[in-house]
Amino acid sequence: MNFKKELYQKIWDAALPYQDKRDDVGHAEIVTKFATKLCKLEKEADDIVVPAAILHDIGWSQLSEEEKFIIFNSNATKEEMLHVRIRHQKEGVKLAKEILEKLEYPLDQIKKILEIISQHDTRKGFFSKEDGVMRDADKLWRFSKIGLEADIRRREMKFHEYYNRMEKRIEEENFFYSESAKSLAREELVERQREYEAETREKREIKLPIK
Ligand SMILES: [Fe+2]
Ligand SMILES: [Fe+2]
Repeated sequence: MNFKKELYQKIWDAALPYQDKRDDVGHAEIVTKFATKLCKLEKEADDIVVPAAILHDIGWSQLSEEEKFIIFNSNATKEEMLHVRIRHQKEGVKLAKEILEKLEYPLDQIKKILEIISQHDTRKGFFSKEDGVMRDADKLWRFSKIGLEADIRRREMKFHEYYNRMEKRIEEENFFYSESAKSLAREELVERQREYEAETREKREIKLPIK
């Protein structure tokens, strides 16, 4: 194992108790995988992007159950939603700082990682390539099988409704930073459609167990 991988593993282990606290098991892992993939495609060093991906959402663990799910509540006000988004970012920065300092991650890199986490959900536009790549990875979660299913469940939406919404989002200005993320998102959607059709076919083919 090379030095960096070993260090990323330590960050991963330290963050694990705080991960995936919003009925989104797999979020941290999937975002980190997309982050690694995007770094390769975009020829970007991963020392900022990967730790930021691992740590970006650990702040949710510090919020109440009600706060964690307010974003999926159609009756919630814009102010309420913004409030929890800011709160999870702030709490995330605190926890990430502790973890990275304990592991003696380089200080100048900690600063950049925390800057990304501090506004990963609320910043308009992108302030650096690292910021863009990490936030692309976070958004790609919604196109993954597990992420798409979690969102459909939490938002109580139909597959086609959600699919059409996400298809449009790919082309929206400032949604994705990189062309690589747009291509990955399109590929993921093709897969989701294929899976959906296969599952629907399977359901139709179930016969009554009567001879
Ligand atoms: Fe977040
Ligand atoms: Fe996230």
